[in-house]
Amino acid sequence: MSGLPNAPSGSRDLVPRATTLVVNGTAHVLDAAPDTLLVDTLRTGLGLTGTKVGCGTGDCGACTVLVDDEPVCSCIVFTRQCEGRRIRTVEDVVTTPAGRATSEALVACGGVQCGICTPGIVVSATALLEHSGGEVSRDQVKGALAGNICRCTGYIGITDGVCQAAQRFRDDAKARTS
Ligand code: FES
Ligand code: FES
Repeated sequence: MSGLPNAPSGSRDLVPRATTLVVNGTAHVLDAAPDTLLVDTLRTGLGLTGTKVGCGTGDCGACTVLVDDEPVCSCIVFTRQCEGRRIRTVEDVVTTPAGRATSEALVACGGVQCGICTPGIVVSATALLEHSGGEVSRDQVKGALAGNICRCTGYIGITDGVCQAAQRFRDDAKARTS
């Protein structure tokens, strides 16, 4: 993961250690063993079960969260690597303009079926919209979602939804500043 320190290694420091994470704007001090995964800290330690587990190997994107506003697969990141980092989960993301526009547009465009992939897609799309201001092409949407696998919908409804959300996000931003 870019920008994160290396994973703990070797036999030193094997006991749980108090680790501070800033999750959805609130600082938490949690005991984390060297092999405690961020996804488990979020779901089990903090009860933030909106973050889903699909593959557990960094391949499907269901567990995507934002670490310092960059999408990260939380199933392959150790909690201790996130010491002091700012983490945003889907519970926070859907309260933002980009996240709200994305979740509503995914439903409107038929981009949601079983829903396991949906939180990760909303998080990845929100990062894209926030970074770009919504000025994105369809190909850029596809690229930003390349790490998010959906087994149900096909990708047309998802891509349509994120493109629609980008347009709404862009238009709303212009209306706010005009
Ligand atoms: S559960 Fe993390 S990438 Fe699949
Ligand atoms: S809606 Fe079921 S995996 Fe995407």
